[in-house]
Amino acid sequence: MLTDSFSVNSKGHLTLGGADTVELAKEYGTPLYVFDENDIRNNCRNFKNAFDKYYGGNARVYYASKAFSCKEMYRLVNSEGICADVVSGGELYTALSAGLPAEKIGFHGNNKTPDELSFALDSKVGRIIVDNMTELEVLNEIAKEKGVKQNINFRIKPGIDCHTHDYIKTGQIDCKFGFALENGEALEAVKAAAQMENLNLVGIHCHIGSQIFETEPFVDAADIMVSFAKNISEQFGVNITEINFGGGYGIKYTNADKPVSKDESIKILCQAVKASCEKYNFALPTICIEPGRSIVGASSLTLYTVGSVKEIKNIRSYVAVDGGMSDNPRYALYNAEYDAVVANKADKAKDFVCTIAGKCCESGDLIQENISIQQVEKGDILAVLATGAYNYSMASNYNRIPRPAAVMVNDGASRVIINRETYEDLIKKDV
Ligand code: LLP
Repeated sequence: MLTDSFSVNSKGHLTLGGADTVELAKEYGTPLYVFDENDIRNNCRNFKNAFDKYYGGNARVYYASKAFSCKEMYRLVNSEGICADVVSGGELYTALSAGLPAEKIGFHGNNKTPDELSFALDSKVGRIIVDNMTELEVLNEIAKEKGVKQNINFRIKPGIDCHTHDYIKTGQIDCKFGFALENGEALEAVKAAAQMENLNLVGIHCHIGSQIFETEPFVDAADIMVSFAKNISEQFGVNITEINFGGGYGIKYTNADKPVSKDESIKILCQAVKASCEKYNFALPTICIEPGRSIVGASSLTLYTVGSVKEIKNIRSYVAVDGGMSDNPRYALYNAEYDAVVANKADKAKDFVCTIAGKCCESGDLIQENISIQQVEKGDILAVLATGAYNYSMASNYNRIPRPAAVMVNDGASRVIINRETYEDLIKKDV
């Protein structure tokens, strides 16, 4: 089992957070996203507790809500005392609608529109993470018109790229996000910001990648970021009091994944920041992080009903489910790996190798290829595991397929947190 949230009950059914997934499929229909509330809460607490332990709590954890954005998620992270990062007016609107205090929101994005910037200023968001020089100027203008002074961070490209297995420290300059260090662009921007009366540069930010299993890149990032903070305080007298290291903490999609514990990841990050601050004689900053996947991704699943099994002799067997790339585009996009279980036969051996196909009119609409699951037939419930992050948030209405409902389970009890879309919803905006 990928995490402690998953188990198999006496009926041989897969359970998540104590709830029988076959019963959930019966009660709410399929496809269905299911999340374990206790695990999400524990993930928030584990990050927070680690900062208390290793950094005297001088830290803020922002849930990267692009991973899964809905009102209940913002309520949940708020109740756990953590903040949220948003990357669009839509996410900001959702967070505010859920009652997340604006000062706990960090607003990201490489091309925030003037309307979005205006909305963020009016809402009094805690931080705007400025991506580029044009945005810096536009934001300062809008803030001036409104007569406000906004706290900002700069998005920095630290020159570390973790999207390869052996991460590389150069080449990151070719990236659409943020200010580069190598060519002096970041320094120029700091110089400009220092003159701007309506902006207050309080921090710097970097995000080195996603689904990272190594700790070393974060140690390198700490050194680069602290050194830059020291540099700009000396050159421009700008006092950087917070450094945000973004998200990226990897989770277990299959048993081959070996994530570092949150405690260990944060311990190493805090030690690295302390060591770099000592090295550069820089005052300890508030550390911020932005975990998305590692908060919401691991203890979750999507339930589908199997429609047909198509055996193509000597080629492969397709197991067709009632969803697909419309609710989970990650295999089609990234060849992302997933584990799957026939939920009503979870106690049986996984001795059937197949390809799980969706129902969209597209050959590439696959959820997984060459995966071993239990023997499966029409009407079975198939669970694809660890789909909590970047599934609902990247879902679409391709082929006018309504988006699934989402359910939160807690010690066996369940409640809907996002209603299933209806056909009526699909035509709502049509004229
Ligand atoms: N902070 C920033 C600035 C980010 O760009 C991201 C992710 C995060 C935090 C959260 O990263 P996490 O902790 O979730 O790894 N759609 C892709 C993932 C794209 C991530 C983009 N940025 C996927 O499905 O794998």
